[in-house]
Amino acid sequence: MIKFGIIGTNWITQQFVEAAQASRLYQLSAVYSRHQETAAAFSAKNGGADTFTDLDDFFKNGVFSTVYIASPNSLHFQQAKQAINAGKHIIVEKPAFENQAEMESIQELLKQNPQIRYFEAARNIHTPNFKAIQEQVEKMPVVQGASLTYMKYSSRYDQVLAGKEPNVFSLRFGGGALQDLGVYPLYDAITLFGMPNEFNYFPEFIQTGVDGKGVAILQYAEFNVTINFGKTTNSYMTSEIYGLKDTIEIDDAGELGEVSYIDADGKRTKISQPVTENPLLPEVRDFARVINEPENVENKADYERWNALSVRVNKMMFNLRQSGKIVFYDERDN
Ligand SMILES: NC(=O)c1ccc[n+]([C@@H]2O[C@H](COP(=O)([O-])OP(=O)(O)OC[C@H]3O[C@@H](n4cnc5c(N)ncnc54)[C@H](OP(=O)(O)O)[C@@H]3O)[C@@H](O)[C@H]2O)c1
Repeated sequence: MIKFGIIGTNWITQQFVEAAQASRLYQLSAVYSRHQETAAAFSAKNGGADTFTDLDDFFKNGVFSTVYIASPNSLHFQQAKQAINAGKHIIVEKPAFENQAEMESIQELLKQNPQIRYFEAARNIHTPNFKAIQEQVEKMPVVQGASLTYMKYSSRYDQVLAGKEPNVFSLRFGGGALQDLGVYPLYDAITLFGMPNEFNYFPEFIQTGVDGKGVAILQYAEFNVTINFGKTTNSYMTSEIYGLKDTIEIDDAGELGEVSYIDADGKRTKISQPVTENPLLPEVRDFARVINEPENVENKADYERWNALSVRVNKMMFNLRQSGKIVFYDERDN
């Protein structure tokens, strides 16, 4: 059993804990919250665990090998650093870090602590449906780019419209559409096609100063990938990966619920499996096998691949953000 602690007590942590418990590979043993009542309520709801309101105390006295960090984006870096220094494996919610300087610093710390495993919780690339897409792309002799969309109205945009600034829409907390939903299709694109030669991000700003939605264009040697994402409206547009006369059709580039292959004659074959389980279960299982057997050849190769991917996605997120002239408060000179 992997004993784990959690930072952040919102719904995504609840979903992660449920996935971890459903996998029967993990045991929740420590809950950190800024508020004792919240920590106690979260612990009680999930079968009981030690509770903490002080991060130093959590890392010093919590009995766990692994920490799941699901705080606002701008806090991930400091908390991850603290966790590595305390000897914990880290599962960091996407986007793991805000910029390349933070990522480089974490990679350096990981080199100094080779027993520690770091995972970015990019749930989509661990799913069977993403693997089905990947296998189909590998079989296609010609690939001519893609159009990927992930756009969902956020209930927290209601608060923005009411004049408030929730973390996910705040420059103070590393918020915005690119950071929140854009990272999923970007993970799709970089996993499938690698790093582009050129890139551009065209953000649409909202009143809090972050991008509410936007379009990113990645230019590869032989094709383009267009990525549409946003949190201020809903899109029902399907995503597509283009072959010569054949196409992969994806209902949603973030959720990957239903995927079909349409051959040169227009015949459509479903290549996805219905998503019936907790959407975080595939990543939870993947991370557990690496933590439990880090020296296994397949696990080692997967770990190195995910880490390299996380570094590339972080770099591209930062590049796109620069292209869109989005600067977070903690990156400003004054
Ligand atoms: N993988 C996915 O499908 C998925 C889905 C949603 C979100 N996420 C990621 O999960 C992370 C958390 O997102 P979220 O929407 O849950 O964020 P959030 O609601 O803004 O904050 C998450 C938790 O952090 C703590 N927190 C909130 N404001 C804070 C502050 N000012 N200072 C210190 N701690 C604070 C709160 O826990 P306490 O009150 O208990 O301290 C809160 O429950 C983000 O990185 C996001 O991108 C991933």
